[in-house]
Amino acid sequence: AVVTDDEIVDVDDNFMDPQLCATMACDIYKHLRASEAKKRPSTDFMERVQKDINSSMRAILIDWLVEVAEEYRLVPDTMYLAVNYIDRYLSGNTMDRQRLQLLGVACMMIAAKYEEICAPQVEEFCYITDNTYFKEEVLQMESAVLNYLKFEMTAPTAKCFLRRFVRAAQGVNEV
Ligand SMILES: *[C@@H]1O[C@H](CO)[C@@H](O)[C@H](O)[C@H]1NC(C)=O
Repeated sequence: AVVTDDEIVDVDDNFMDPQLCATMACDIYKHLRASEAKKRPSTDFMERVQKDINSSMRAILIDWLVEVAEEYRLVPDTMYLAVNYIDRYLSGNTMDRQRLQLLGVACMMIAAKYEEICAPQVEEFCYITDNTYFKEEVLQMESAVLNYLKFEMTAPTAKCFLRRFVRAAQGVNEV
């Protein structure tokens, strides 16, 4: 069957539910798309910037962070945001393998403060690393990440676009 224009459903036609922001949704997503280009990590930082770590180590870190997120019942947005911070930081700073996990918990902590109603305390982030790092180290890393990212912590993630795509695809379950 040929898809004609009139078969395309307008996803912004629900004016009854104020949560859907029907009149603004399109502009909001245009802004997010533009903002994504500015808050995006480089695609080749592993080859270009990093010397001690590689993509397998990053993958192991992220798998572990998924477990941390489950343990503390964090929302998926926190997880996606933490990965955005990690990759943006790694795009401009070399990191050794001993401190990669420290970067991971520090970014998770920042993302949790941004996204969660009740974020876990710094002590809990130390505990989850089996107290590999001291509280002061986590706070120092947190400060290094915040400064490097110039406190620009609002970043659209894949999750945020996925919500809209699922709606456009008329998925039944909102993500
Ligand atoms: C990353 O480094 C580790 C340890 O040197 C090695 O076992 C692993 O195969 C490397 N992974 C990649 C993708 O190069």
